[in-house]
Amino acid sequence: MRKVVLFLCASGSLLTLCGQSVRSIVGPGKPVNPYHYSIVKKGEFSTASVSSAHPLASLVGATIMKRGGNAFDAAIATQLALAVVYPGAGNIGGGGFLLGRKANGELLGIDYREAAPEKANRDMYLDKNGNVQLNLSQNGHLASGIPGTVAGLFATLTYARLPFPQLIQPAIDLAEKGFVLSEKEAASLNATRSSFLKYSTRPCAFVKATNWKAGDTLIQKELAATLKRIQEKGAPGFYEGETGKMIVEEMQRGGGLISMEDLKDYTAKLRNPIEFDYRGDHIVSFAPPSSGGILIGQMLKMIEKYPVSSYGFQSTQAVQLMIEAERRAYADRAVHMGDPDFYDVPVKTLMSEEYLQKRMSDYHPEKAGQSAVIKAGLIKESEETTHLSIIDGEGNMVSVTTTLNGGYGSRTVVGGAGFLLNNEMDDFSAKPGIPNMYGAVGGEANAIQPGKRMLSSMTPTLILRNNKPFVVVGTPGGTTIPTSVFQAIVNIIDFHMSADDAINKPKFHHQWLPDNVMIEKGFNPETKKQLQAMGYQFTERGSIGRTEIIRVLGNGKRETVADNRGDDSVAGF
Ligand code: DON
Repeated sequence: MRKVVLFLCASGSLLTLCGQSVRSIVGPGKPVNPYHYSIVKKGEFSTASVSSAHPLASLVGATIMKRGGNAFDAAIATQLALAVVYPGAGNIGGGGFLLGRKANGELLGIDYREAAPEKANRDMYLDKNGNVQLNLSQNGHLASGIPGTVAGLFATLTYARLPFPQLIQPAIDLAEKGFVLSEKEAASLNATRSSFLKYSTRPCAFVKATNWKAGDTLIQKELAATLKRIQEKGAPGFYEGETGKMIVEEMQRGGGLISMEDLKDYTAKLRNPIEFDYRGDHIVSFAPPSSGGILIGQMLKMIEKYPVSSYGFQSTQAVQLMIEAERRAYADRAVHMGDPDFYDVPVKTLMSEEYLQKRMSDYHPEKAGQSAVIKAGLIKESEETTHLSIIDGEGNMVSVTTTLNGGYGSRTVVGGAGFLLNNEMDDFSAKPGIPNMYGAVGGEANAIQPGKRMLSSMTPTLILRNNKPFVVVGTPGGTTIPTSVFQAIVNIIDFHMSADDAINKPKFHHQWLPDNVMIEKGFNPETKKQLQAMGYQFTERGSIGRTEIIRVLGNGKRETVADNRGDDSVAGF
């Protein structure tokens, strides 16, 4: 019998590699062992760093760099590994955004967000009385947009160094030979069992006769075969031929819309990143169809003229100011943001100093704003996702957020092909003013149209200090993503925190509607009390986000940290 040892690490300590920060987690030629691995929460690496949602995926990324690959090679290999070992969010049936900065300073944004199928239409989720049927946009075949991930991986390959077959091989091995499940993974598969059965039309690897338990090996033969077709034929190995046919047949069996033409026509798109300065550092983030870059730009610029650092971390003053910035930015999101190829997003205005000053002109310290009164600005012109942060030895930086949308997406596994499809159609506004699964509302800018990409909150972000790599950061969390990234940036720049504290301290979130503040356990109780007295309402919720971060230290070492909220883990050397 295979001996399975899975070391789980409690809240940030390093267990097997105990004591202080780890310096190397990949030895030359040391193969990744899928039956015996540790969760490592932080390390200080001098050459290559990866932080992702799964230890095996981070190890795959670091090993690829050890073998001569750069950060882009590692990003491809890590995402493919996540598609196997982290099926709740890692994917080939979903989409994402990659933000990169080459060592020569060139910035690039690759948009491989899913798109609405040609047969989709604005009212496709309304019943005959005009009511939204959220079940249809969130579960099963009709919830899926055209997957973008594989196109995104091949668009990234232009910047990589190693041949693609080498980058996908670790994922094939993990799918074919299996890997051991952690307790969280086993529990999460068990909790989703009935949905897999309900929304898949063929048996799948995620469902077995008995419950999963920690230490079990998950083998995914059909997924391995799909990955091999991609290895052999490139993107057509997914969008055409046998795999394409399996997707379309799955759609036909379950009443979905994605056609062979939809698959063949899908392309990843290059987007110019959103760029702005905050207190002397240069922030780079993702542009529409993500709202993330604009939101963090708006929030940071709205608070920049205030002495946030002197207010203190999680002080009443700092939190109130940040909530009010969040409220105003999210009100704009609901009205002004969507796929720029279908809707003219007024990016310049939304990001202009003048506009943002005006947005904050009704901000009153010591008094809660009201979302019923503070609406989107007037402009006169036309929980599961996953993030990975990587830096290589040359200084290439890569920040990727990728998703199926909800945990395990639509819960539809493509029959015979072994991968899950997304439920990203729910990120469109199915009807003006009706909240989606994250409580986000929207209107015309984000209405469903064939070929259009649904508005996202994913916020892969880079920070440059003195025009040099400083921070790579991002997180899952639906609409809480931009506020998590916002707080990580403020924690680092205003409160001078370590990367570890910057992501692991308790967070808060306000998204305009509903008009209340979500907080994590451990949020400063005194601040909460004072804000309640001003009229703020609070809801305590489970964790907000799972942020992966790398911060370059003064001595050139990379403080590489994985979020304590999950099995997230770092690797590097
Ligand atoms: O693109 C978006 O904004 C969402 N589909 C992200 C979903 C997500 O982060 C779920 N994770 N917890």
